[in-house]
Amino acid sequence: MKLKDKAVLITGAGSGLGREMALVFTREGAKIGVNDLRPEAAQNVVTEIERAGGRALRLVADVTDSAAVKKIFADFVAAFGTIDVLVNNAGIGRVRPGSEATPTVDKTDEDWRKMIATHLDATFYCTREALKVMIAKQSGRSSATVSWSTVSRPASSRPR
Ligand SMILES: NC(=O)c1ccc[n+]([C@@H]2O[C@H](COP(=O)([O-])OP(=O)(O)OC[C@H]3O[C@@H](n4cnc5c(N)ncnc54)[C@H](O)[C@@H]3O)[C@@H](O)[C@H]2O)c1
Repeated sequence: MKLKDKAVLITGAGSGLGREMALVFTREGAKIGVNDLRPEAAQNVVTEIERAGGRALRLVADVTDSAAVKKIFADFVAAFGTIDVLVNNAGIGRVRPGSEATPTVDKTDEDWRKMIATHLDATFYCTREALKVMIAKQSGRSSATVSWSTVSRPASSRPR
């Protein structure tokens, strides 16, 4: 087990890649903080982890809210004692619920601000909180799930 007893916090872990990482890290022995802004999605992943014999903590928060981020990190450290790995995974390809990923030329100013808040502000807020703990304990790693595909691919080449 490569991550035995490591404390791993994954943002946006209620579905998709975040959920998959949570389950893989569980198999590697990690304790998982399952963040998502959707309480039920986060709870479902916590339940999956516990059924697989792992340890998990549900951390419901919108990571674009710095006060909410501070609280989930405090809750995570209170439960698991430290943070060894942060995965900044929360993201939005579909800025409007139910829609396909919005091509760049169709994005509004409001869409853009929401994407920047989710992908950049939240990454900064979470990394800052993780670093406070990691520096104090002289350990830790962080990563981000990044893609520019929605920006760089012309709308005409996008699958419909
Ligand atoms: N799926 C891909 O092909 C792909 C490719 C490249 C990069 N990415 C990036 O990987 C990450 C995950 O993608 P995915 O396809 O698994 O997406 P997804 O929509 O399945 O999962 C994202 C999760 O993040 C949560 N979330 C969104 N905003 C949040 C916020 N403000 N606070 C807390 N949780 C929030 C959502 O509720 C959702 O559960 C994203 O950052 C995405 O940009 C995905």
